[in-house]
Amino acid sequence: MSGHGTPIPMSSHKCGPLKGEAHVPGDKSISHRSLLFGAMAVGETVVTGLLEGEDVLDTAKAMRAFGAEITRDEDGTWHVHGVGVGGFAEPDNVIDCGNSGTGVRLIMGAMATTPITVTFTGDASLNGRPMARVTDPIALFGAQSYGRSGGRLPMTIVGAADPVPVRYEVPMPSAQVKSAVLLAGLNAPGETVVIEKEATRDHTERMLAGFGADIRTEVTEEGRVITLKGRPELKPQTIVVPRDPSSAAFPVCAAIITPGSDVLVPNIGLNPTRAGLFYALQSMGADLTFENEREEGGEPVADLRARFSPDLKGAEIDPEGAASMIDEYPVLSVVAAFAEGDTVMRGVKELRVKESDRIDAMAKGLRLNGVEVDEGEDWWIVKGRGHGNVPGGATCESHLDHRIAMSFMVMGMAANAPVSVDDGSPIATSFPIFEDLMGGLGADLRRD
Ligand code: S3P
Repeated sequence: MSGHGTPIPMSSHKCGPLKGEAHVPGDKSISHRSLLFGAMAVGETVVTGLLEGEDVLDTAKAMRAFGAEITRDEDGTWHVHGVGVGGFAEPDNVIDCGNSGTGVRLIMGAMATTPITVTFTGDASLNGRPMARVTDPIALFGAQSYGRSGGRLPMTIVGAADPVPVRYEVPMPSAQVKSAVLLAGLNAPGETVVIEKEATRDHTERMLAGFGADIRTEVTEEGRVITLKGRPELKPQTIVVPRDPSSAAFPVCAAIITPGSDVLVPNIGLNPTRAGLFYALQSMGADLTFENEREEGGEPVADLRARFSPDLKGAEIDPEGAASMIDEYPVLSVVAAFAEGDTVMRGVKELRVKESDRIDAMAKGLRLNGVEVDEGEDWWIVKGRGHGNVPGGATCESHLDHRIAMSFMVMGMAANAPVSVDDGSPIATSFPIFEDLMGGLGADLRRD
């Protein structure tokens, strides 16, 4: 588990053109949900293409502790025998969700309306992250929580014995909070209503509908109003997990900044609640095209072709699209360093409460590598130096954050001097094949 093992110092050295196909792993959000919703269905859910990263494996372990039977065939097919809505057993021990905010927050929601007592913990990053955003709404269902000061893990939750449905307006743009409330609503009688002002990733809504829940979304003046009927019998599914656009971001951005590159990243989901980065890159003049556009499992999918883009220009990134690219700002800031002019990113306060404070972590590392950054509580500006003028040469702290570590590895591919991170081990939480995949394209990544 990241943060529990030995740190892995890594460096990335200027490389020749990146060429070839990048087959990135399965979507992290959909992988967590496949295991969790499968565990709440009655019967056997079969999952292929699951992301076998540490975050998701921690969720699998947790679901076993709640009574689901989960097995993996040698060919990578996963089988989940669920216990049904309201059927979770009380785990014998503490649930350790490692580095994963999605894992812990969704599971907290899912158990909040079952009368069991569960203690959650995680690594140093997760134990520093705010959980009141979930414990506040689940208290409305009747669950009680006892955490550390500031609503931090470790935390014990006593699920409601007699839950009531709720109507809840999510106060920040967060798919994890929205999902936690919906999952709590599954085992409450009547209708639970969740309102979000800004659209966030909608995998929970789409997948619960696929599992047979009665769930509908209306777009009103209040925002997106999602209504879920409690106590359904969820029907097991066969799920093919699409490849993760948030992982695709790394080879795509690497190709855009590395001279001579031409990389194809096949089969990437372009769900509009996830694809914001790709449009932002195009607005900066990146040579990024969508090939073979099609629909799979009700979602738009395409092969992404990214080529070296020598004339990148800084841009104002539309704050309205922030939620659709929230995990991609770190690597976008690296591309911005190679653009001419300022890239302005506003409406991104949520970046401060991810696996690390991502504005702070990126700003510090970019400055150490010769790139100027201005920042405020909910905005930052990267002052692009233009292609060929990014100095590099420094070691950055990854703060137990996979996306920070991978972003600086991408920076080193095109900076004038190598870029290092103190610890690349968190990369295994979401992209365990990152080094091999990027090396296969021509990147020069080293463990120091
Ligand atoms: C996720 C939601 C987002 C995202 C995270 C995955 C999910 O978090 O950053 O990587 O799967 O629901 P927030 O809900 O905190 O925005």
